[in-house]
Amino acid sequence: MKAAVLESYNHFVWKEVETPEVKAGEVLVRIKFASICGTDMHIFPGDFHPRTPVPFIPGHEMGGVVAEVGDGVSGFEEGEKVAIDPIIWCGECPACKRGHYPACTSLKLLGVDMDGGFAEYISVPPHMLFKAAPHLPDEHVALVEIYGIGFHANNRAKTSEGDVLAIWGAGRVGQVILQAARTKTDGTIFMVDPLENRLEIAEKYNENVIGINPRKENPVDVIKKHTGGNGVDIAFEAVGHAEEIEGIHHPVRSAIQSLRGGGKVCVLGLSDEPAPVVFKELIWKEGQIITSRVSHGEFSEVLEHLNSGDLKPDALISKVMPGSQIQQAFELLQKEKENYLKVLLDFQ
Ligand SMILES: NC(=O)c1ccc[n+]([C@@H]2O[C@H](COP(=O)([O-])OP(=O)(O)OC[C@H]3O[C@@H](n4cnc5c(N)ncnc54)[C@H](O)[C@@H]3O)[C@@H](O)[C@H]2O)c1
Ligand SMILES: [Zn+2]
Ligand SMILES: [Zn+2]
Repeated sequence: MKAAVLESYNHFVWKEVETPEVKAGEVLVRIKFASICGTDMHIFPGDFHPRTPVPFIPGHEMGGVVAEVGDGVSGFEEGEKVAIDPIIWCGECPACKRGHYPACTSLKLLGVDMDGGFAEYISVPPHMLFKAAPHLPDEHVALVEIYGIGFHANNRAKTSEGDVLAIWGAGRVGQVILQAARTKTDGTIFMVDPLENRLEIAEKYNENVIGINPRKENPVDVIKKHTGGNGVDIAFEAVGHAEEIEGIHHPVRSAIQSLRGGGKVCVLGLSDEPAPVVFKELIWKEGQIITSRVSHGEFSEVLEHLNSGDLKPDALISKVMPGSQIQQAFELLQKEKENYLKVLLDFQ
């Protein structure tokens, strides 16, 4: 088969490698599309070394069709459309024993800790596969993983009908939190991001969204004004490494300030820098800070909503490129990060 092998850091080679053998208890999947993630952008230059030694095939957001069913596997047939959940938990650690799998202390991912889906084929155990409806475009099946992050965040925060929300960051993660939230509440959703093009996408594809550019307006003031001084039920942080904006607080602190009494902040951004939290501002409201990591079985929930047309996958897809042009795709994303949400690679 052909695969995109990261031969050395910053250098992909599209080349012939051995097609994975379908072992007993596994299913061989013919990858159709895979999506490039922020994590892949860190693997590419070697930021995750030594977790990701080269040569290596990344790719953890992918979908395809069943190509071959290994011995002892039932319930799958050749040609069925499937999304692949890349998460592998240990099942043994204290978190796993309590069923809290995303907090597994030795959590591993296909395409990060072992070869992944930037290739024509991958062989995986059937519990990692989730069936998609035959009518679903193959491009959309590759987005199930990232949508899972958005649904998991809303499930962690218990988003309910009528809730008014705010989301800091209108990037890939912010947009999937928004779309997942839209399936759970009709309340106003405020999106905060200095990139106007991303606010426009959020407003264009989703009802009742108010975009706020923190370079132009103070998000907390705007949110308070629109909510009669009350604030939001839940504020999500999907920024991570935050751009400093003069006169505007860090997203986590602003999120806390935007809450109503008894509200919740759900933090997803993965930054190495500390976020300034003035606990008095949170305690005064008896607010909660919760976090959300990857997903936990939300693939089925995502697929139900994709199948029924509730989600807007086209809002996320900025460009589709052939798998053979993976090097160009990564260089493009490095150079013009702000112009793209999801870039899909076509492996069919
Ligand atoms: N917890 C999880 O499960 C999980 C999963 C995937 C990614 N992440 C993390 O989530 C974060 C976002 O990921 P992404 O792929 O969406 O990145 P992204 O770069 O696409 O989006 C981040 C957005 O934040 C905006 N931003 C920057 N500074 C800001 C500020 N001061 N106020 C408001 N917005 C600001 C940027 O303009 C950008 O649009 C990253 O830290 C990533 O590592 C977490
Ligand atoms: Zn990812
Ligand atoms: Zn574990």
